[in-house]
Amino acid sequence: MITAIYPGSFDPITYGHLDIIKRAARVFDKLVVGVLHNQSKKPLFTVEEKVSMIREVTADLPNVEVIPFDGLLVDFSDQIGATVIVRGIRAVSDFESELMMAQTNKQLNDKVETMFFATSAEYSFISSSTVKEVASFGGDFSRFLPEPIYQKVCDKYK
Ligand code: PNS
Repeated sequence: MITAIYPGSFDPITYGHLDIIKRAARVFDKLVVGVLHNQSKKPLFTVEEKVSMIREVTADLPNVEVIPFDGLLVDFSDQIGATVIVRGIRAVSDFESELMMAQTNKQLNDKVETMFFATSAEYSFISSSTVKEVASFGGDFSRFLPEPIYQKVCDKYK
């Protein structure tokens, strides 16, 4: 039985994230979506809001669990018995930092492997930051994220 972790800030979750979650859930026996509780950044949503939103849009995926975490990702991976870290790569520009993160995590814990999923082409331009920027200027970002999440982002910018 292989448990994988898909970690991230998810501020907010987008169709790009959801695509990776659905595909990784087909590959691994169990997929834990790890939501980073990062006090150094000023997020739009609290970690509790993010967890609840991700649970809502992954409710139809029985082998997906959503859990907040703090501290080192490799420590959390050990705690939940995850042996694979899943990350999505949207473009070459993502690769440099993702490679560094994967190599750092490997140094910290040799038992955990990072596996990259190529983001589906139709979502390769979407990021949580872009969503927030478009939303903050009143643009239409409804095609970037699931409807319930879209509504919650709209509420934040009211
Ligand atoms: O969605 P993001 O912001 O690209 O996700 C980044 C994340 C959460 C995967 C990364 O910041 C992380 O793992 N943070 C936990 C702290 C840690 O383990 N750092 C060492 C790895 S470089």
